[in-house]
Amino acid sequence: MKILVTGGTGYIGSHTAVELQEKGYEVIIVDNLSNSSIEVLDNIEKITGVKPLFEQFDLTDPKRTAAFFKQNNDIRAIIHFAAFKAVGESVEKPLMYYRNNLISLVNILQGMIDNGIENIVFSSSCTVYGQPDKLPVSENSPIKKAWSPYGNTKQMSEEIITFTSDVNDIQAILLRYFNPIGAHESALIGELPIGVPNCLMPYITQTAIGIREYLRVWGDDYPTPDGTAIRDYIHVVDLAKAHVIAIERMIGQKGKQKVEVFNLGTGNGFSVMEVINSFERSTGVKLNYEIMGRRPGDVVEVWSDTEYANKELGWTAEKSLDEMTKSAWNWEKELEIKRKANNE
Ligand code: NAD
Ligand code: WQD
Repeated sequence: MKILVTGGTGYIGSHTAVELQEKGYEVIIVDNLSNSSIEVLDNIEKITGVKPLFEQFDLTDPKRTAAFFKQNNDIRAIIHFAAFKAVGESVEKPLMYYRNNLISLVNILQGMIDNGIENIVFSSSCTVYGQPDKLPVSENSPIKKAWSPYGNTKQMSEEIITFTSDVNDIQAILLRYFNPIGAHESALIGELPIGVPNCLMPYITQTAIGIREYLRVWGDDYPTPDGTAIRDYIHVVDLAKAHVIAIERMIGQKGKQKVEVFNLGTGNGFSVMEVINSFERSTGVKLNYEIMGRRPGDVVEVWSDTEYANKELGWTAEKSLDEMTKSAWNWEKELEIKRKANNE
């Protein structure tokens, strides 16, 4: 059964391609490699024994996307990861984000309608909730005004999919991820941040390996037990597995509505200091860090209510915070070997 994974050479897409192939699905990846590398395909093959089918093009190109769907109208379901995702960059360049994230989605939905492809899983984000009024945050929590164009593209994408599904034979599962971190246990695939990382985990591993001098902890005066902000970190492999289950749910017609929404988190909130402590504990490496002021736009705390996903998908995130931080470190060490080999 053929599954299209857009953005499949990227961080979450590559882990999902592995899980799909391990379950016997045929994976076809479309990616323009704007934020990933072609070598990922070989590494997926090293892990699974199978090299996914691959086409390199930009999904914002309507003609190219239409031609692709015409040639591949045997696709049973789509997992749509391809998007730009840097919150800060989206504030600087909003149109680049609206163009990339929305036009690619419109082109994909058109391809589905024109070729009778009925199932799509969409990568959404807990950013759609902003700072929720109540914790843990459930799927029914209100969607707050977007804090960034990036977050706004996720809100708009969810609406575009829902309105399109209303009048077409399209079922969708919208997955709202919390904070994915970590890497595959093989350390063959992982997150590849370009430039200075904005996110906590790659900043920690790059500091520990010596690329960055020290981690800046953004604020220790939040109303949390240790004063640092709290997030629901989820291992990327747990996240990837939920996608396979979502696909099986749609193909097996087990959904309750045409468009369903699930939070994907662990249900546990960890503070920045707890992540640092976990990193030091799981790797035995000491981390340089300094406490700074708060980062503008950061929410104080957010974690997921996992009950609905646990019950309906029969899925639970299994990996601990220590497994997440350790696997992220193993991946950083692999990257360092490659950097040295390339004299970077
Ligand atoms: P990523 O950047 O590693 O992967 C995205 C991939 O999409 C990249 O390989 C990129 O080259 C490709 N791409 C982007 N625009 C494209 C286009 N127009 N045509 C073809 N390919 C294109 O990002 P990721 O962390 O794997 O995120 C995957 C999805 O999950 C994104 O939609 C992101 O917004 C969402 N998400 C990510 C996080 C996170 O923290 N990583 C959290 C919530 C949601
Ligand atoms: C986590 C915590 C920081 C870096 C972002 C997006 C969100 C989603 C996930 C896509 C915060 C602190 C961080 C550093 C630090 N992505 N931190 N020093 O902001 O929760 O979410 O990624 O949808 O939309 O906004 O993740 O990893 O940047 O930060 O102290 O150098 O770590 O202040 O408390 P965030 P993050």
